[in-house]
Amino acid sequence: MKFFVDTAIVAEIRDLAEYGLMDGVTTNPSLIAKSGRDFKEVIAEICGITDGPVSAEVAALDAPGMLAEGRVLAGIAPNVVVKLPLTLDGLKACRVFTAEGIRTNVTLCFSANQALLAAKAGASYISPFIGRLDDINLDGMELIREIRQIYDNYGFETEILAASIRSANHVREAALAGADVGTVPAKVIKALAAHPLTECGLEQFSKDWAATGQSIL
Ligand code: G3P
Repeated sequence: MKFFVDTAIVAEIRDLAEYGLMDGVTTNPSLIAKSGRDFKEVIAEICGITDGPVSAEVAALDAPGMLAEGRVLAGIAPNVVVKLPLTLDGLKACRVFTAEGIRTNVTLCFSANQALLAAKAGASYISPFIGRLDDINLDGMELIREIRQIYDNYGFETEILAASIRSANHVREAALAGADVGTVPAKVIKALAAHPLTECGLEQFSKDWAATGQSIL
């Protein structure tokens, strides 16, 4: 499973890139607002940090507006992926970008039928929001499983980009469900490496090694 980091905070992206834990980046209008920075500037900077896909979302709600904005975003850097909302206008714009060879990430997906429409429109990625379904007592992970089955049934190449991931368990379950990508908050990505038994085992190794009085170098 590929890991995209779900942030527009450049410091978080640089940190993860140094650990080799990041295959791409996703942003959205809320994350851009949280960064407090100029949209185009921060996307350009992020695209300079990673060669992986960087999702940048349109703000327009109508297809003509999405097309105009998406072409501006795609022009920022070759690794920009244009993020479009899962609406009829978003799907219309997706079809146009697919024909033009511009990669797309169709977002705010909450049902298997929505995901089916996005794949038929040629979306490069579909972003089902796990956490927000869980928030209203629905099963976000079941949606990942349903999309996986539908896409495999028909050989759709659209990649399932599990989003709205809130925990390490979400990552594990999305991987088990067959998501192609997980877009994950930076702190959750780093938490994946942590385990108390690893920590205490390493502490004991260090103590026992120190007691030998030896040095490898
Ligand atoms: O990429 C979508 C993600 O940013 C939404 O996460 O936690 O606001 O549902 P959340």
